[in-house]
Amino acid sequence: MNLEYVKRWGWTANPFTLIINPKLFTGYESQVHAVLEHINNKHKIALITGSTGAGKTTFLKWLDENLRDYSTIYVSKPPQTPEEFINIFTDIFGLTFWEKLFRKKLSLYTLPKYIEKKSKHHLVFLVDEAHETNKDVLEWLRVLTDQIKGISLVIAGLPVLEAKIKGDLETLNQRITTRIELNSLTKDEMRDLIKKRIESISGTEIEPFTNSAIDKIYHRTGGFPREVLKLCDRLVNTAVEKHLDKISAVDIEDHREVPRSNVRLDQPVVTFSPKPPSDQQLINLPYKQKRILETLNKDDWLTPTAIADILGIKSYKSRSHAIRSINNILHRLMMEGYVQRESRGKAYLYALTPKVKTLFVEK
Ligand SMILES: Nc1ncnc2c1ncn2[C@@H]1O[C@H](COP(=O)(O)OP(=O)(O)O)[C@@H](O)[C@H]1O
Ligand SMILES: [Mg+2]
Repeated sequence: MNLEYVKRWGWTANPFTLIINPKLFTGYESQVHAVLEHINNKHKIALITGSTGAGKTTFLKWLDENLRDYSTIYVSKPPQTPEEFINIFTDIFGLTFWEKLFRKKLSLYTLPKYIEKKSKHHLVFLVDEAHETNKDVLEWLRVLTDQIKGISLVIAGLPVLEAKIKGDLETLNQRITTRIELNSLTKDEMRDLIKKRIESISGTEIEPFTNSAIDKIYHRTGGFPREVLKLCDRLVNTAVEKHLDKISAVDIEDHREVPRSNVRLDQPVVTFSPKPPSDQQLINLPYKQKRILETLNKDDWLTPTAIADILGIKSYKSRSHAIRSINNILHRLMMEGYVQRESRGKAYLYALTPKVKTLFVEK
């Protein structure tokens, strides 16, 4: 970390990196409204398009975190094979002994019935980077949403995705009832993006930027989120080099930013955020389950192994027994809406759902 930031403005980090934090999401009001309407009306397929850096991923993750009346699944990119596709759901909902026995039989054709049986609440399936996939996969997604009663699908991708669907996938095209485009923020929304970021690292409002600087940043970037962040990043670094405490319009040169290509993760990330339980249900939980929740209240995003190590394994036959048992309990807690899960490849990380987190704070 750059100590100059701290000295100059009291910051604890650089606020203008391209990290994705749904808590910093702002603006795009009409688009947010359209997607919420779509989901609340239990509509089937919504399509979000926008160029790289417009905010698609942040928007989907914001939905994943804020749709508290629904269970949501977020996948950072579409599955590529039928097996991967099926695994997303069996990894979340699990298989009973009998289902394991007949595992071979779970196919793209039986998957809808399986999901319908397992999913207790209306499910919102959020699929990111959908332009990266082929016709077949998009068609599976369409069939899945057609056949499951309680599911809404929100797919996001680059603008080429819409052209691809229009050209090749007429049925899917007809099923899309909500289409939104993320383009750029208004000047006020852009100011809020900057302010939220600065305040999130203990800074004050839009300091060091003056209002004239905000006008100029807007003029230069058109309010396109990624360009705003890149420009702000350069401006604060230059200010540090030149020992400036303030950044005003005269400090901002006139040339335009050159867009940069997208950075991608190799491992798909799948997040499942279940619909949370009622307050009464929480009070009635058994002791072991409560201890796990308390552990997760102290520390977010832990693996079952980390939890076993924190809680100790005294009451179990061995460490691996403890881990397996905790794993089972976590799965149950997830299905009942106490904890959410994120998987990266083979690793699972657990955290309290936002509502349960609030209940703990209130206690
Ligand atoms: N509406 C927004 N509010 C706050 N930050 C945003 C918004 N849109 C985008 N950003 C930020 O801009 C950067 C690029 O956004 P991202 O979601 O990765 O775009 P995309 O997925 O469309 O390529 C991220 O750091 C993100 O947090
Ligand atoms: Mg993205």
